[in-house]
Amino acid sequence: MPFSRVTGTGGYLPERVMTNAELEKIVDTTDAWITARSGIKERRIVEDHEFTCDLAEKASRKAIQAAGKTPADVDLIVVATSTPDVVFPSTACLLQERLGVTGPPAFDVQAVCAGFLFAVDVADKFIRTQSANCALVVGAETFSRILDWSDRRTCVLFGDGAGAVILEASAEPGILSTHLHSDGRFKDLLCVPTGVSRNYRKLQNGGAYVTMEGGEVFRWAVTAMSDIVKETLDANRMTLDQIDWLVPHQANSRIINAIGKRLGLSDRKVVMTVEKHGNTSAASVPLALDEAVRDGRIQNGNFVLIEGFGGGFTWGSAMIRM
Ligand code: ACO
Repeated sequence: MPFSRVTGTGGYLPERVMTNAELEKIVDTTDAWITARSGIKERRIVEDHEFTCDLAEKASRKAIQAAGKTPADVDLIVVATSTPDVVFPSTACLLQERLGVTGPPAFDVQAVCAGFLFAVDVADKFIRTQSANCALVVGAETFSRILDWSDRRTCVLFGDGAGAVILEASAEPGILSTHLHSDGRFKDLLCVPTGVSRNYRKLQNGGAYVTMEGGEVFRWAVTAMSDIVKETLDANRMTLDQIDWLVPHQANSRIINAIGKRLGLSDRKVVMTVEKHGNTSAASVPLALDEAVRDGRIQNGNFVLIEGFGGGFTWGSAMIRM
């Protein structure tokens, strides 16, 4: 049975930068509060004419190029998003059309901020069972579209962006293991309580916004993302000192620091991009991975543990040999 291997990464952030100073003019907040509570200094926000698929396409083309492939080589597309362009078709199908690929399966997965981990797990299984050879796996979001810009508790935390990887079949690992969890008992702690089948009129009137019990989410995120690191290490009979990089979901620097402290992991091994990106939900892990690959921190042969946590709750991880 082949392994799947990451052979290319890509990322894209919208050009428009929104600083904390700009947010001070929109809601009753301060740069000092946002920085102290979240570590976020700025985030990128799409223009009115930009949509999730636009960001996904730009990140995907970079990942395809980095892998030395062309869109015609891609035989599976999985997009993780909670902010699809339209209710249907899936953003993956829209992306497929943009890339000029016809025929192979393309579909979305929805696990909010853990979505990229779910998408990687699915694509890895396609490759390991020889149902695909070259998978494009994307996390792409325009969370700015589902923020209540008058709610200071949420609007300061999120941003827009997309990240992508190419996974190819290989005799060498590759993705060593994947781990996924969900617990729907916590569905109300972090959600957009408006949808298609429920409260559709609110959606039509532009009332679909993120709501969050910040303190509860914080506690669960730290516990789940610390525990899944241990689960991942145990599954691979590895110890913490054997991993070269931890790439956690970029929600909040306090969450990331608390995970590092709980595990006893040096900051020097943790990739952190939240300061400049904010929380880009499903895009945050592939964006952080791409940044660390492109700036040379992550090298071929490195052991990289990626992990995410999001609404549902959902959480997941993967151990990758780059
Ligand atoms: N600016 C200024 N004051 C604010 C802001 C703001 N943007 N937001 C809230 N406050 C106020 C509150 O109203 C409250 O005031 P009060 O004491 O007068 O009532 C005070 O600040 C403290 O509020 P708390 O909610 O207790 O602040 P806390 O220290 O818990 O920090 C935060 C809030 C940053 C949301 C924190 O709970 C957190 O990081 N939670 C994790 C949430 C997260 O990252 N979610 C992302 C999605 S989930 C995921 O991706 C993992």
